[in-house]
Amino acid sequence: MARVLALLGVGVVPADTPVLRADDLGVLRGDGVFETMHVRGGQPWLLDRHLDRMSRSAALLAIPLPDRAALVELAGQACAAWPAADEAALRLVCTRGPEDGGPVTVYATVAPLAPAAVEARHTGVSVATATLAVPAEARPGAPWLLGGAKTLSYAVNMASLRWAAEQGVNEVLWTSADGYALEAPTATLVWLAGGVLYTVPAATTGILAGTTAAYLLEHAGELGMRAAERLVRPAELHSADGVWLASSVRGLTEVRTLDGVALGPSPETERMQKLLGYL
Ligand SMILES: Cc1ncc(COP(=O)(O)O)c(C=O)c1O
Repeated sequence: MARVLALLGVGVVPADTPVLRADDLGVLRGDGVFETMHVRGGQPWLLDRHLDRMSRSAALLAIPLPDRAALVELAGQACAAWPAADEAALRLVCTRGPEDGGPVTVYATVAPLAPAAVEARHTGVSVATATLAVPAEARPGAPWLLGGAKTLSYAVNMASLRWAAEQGVNEVLWTSADGYALEAPTATLVWLAGGVLYTVPAATTGILAGTTAAYLLEHAGELGMRAAERLVRPAELHSADGVWLASSVRGLTEVRTLDGVALGPSPETERMQKLLGYL
């Protein structure tokens, strides 16, 4: 399916239009911020929360993000060029711009979802833990590590997923040096234990504050669950009542094996996916 490309202040252009200069720091250094949203019914879902996070990310990197109205307009232009019946992924990207100074580069793309991500909603995923080699609560005290920022530097995240593939599993659950589960390279960890739906606290660990998991926990009451944040060790997840990875594009995927231990299936998966609007 064709992709859509829209430029700030310009609107939709042919999808193969050159956008970045060769010396853009977004390319040279991964120095920029982005957001990925789920497009449903021709609209980006949870746009406001994503824009809030993008402005937090930009502040952490000291990148001058264009004003919100301009970003809303850009997202709207990109989504309007996409068939409303088809779900998709909207990316908003803001790089620092050319190395010798100059304006930030801002654009939006809309693209189809990876078939594997859609299929995993039904099949679940196999997961291996892998260390991120930092203590769970170290990053907020070391702001140069950019905990909580969604930056363009995803090479480590992608390397983690390649490592997972080499191990014969679908996904990675990053762990801290002191043995706690943190997050996946592109998703938030969510688990159910004793009627409480949990996720890992972003504020104290510097993981990315996931918009999908936040929505799920805020609405957990509608499923008869309570919601809370806490640290957890992977061994504890082996006996949880359900373990999931949540993100804007995949929605919710159940973890069916963790380090070779079979989990689930949970009877809650479908209700949770429906609550999120992915089924
Ligand atoms: C590192 C990381 N954690 C969590 C998430 C999930 O965030 P969201 O639910 O806002 O898509 C993502 C999304 O790509 C991510 O990259």
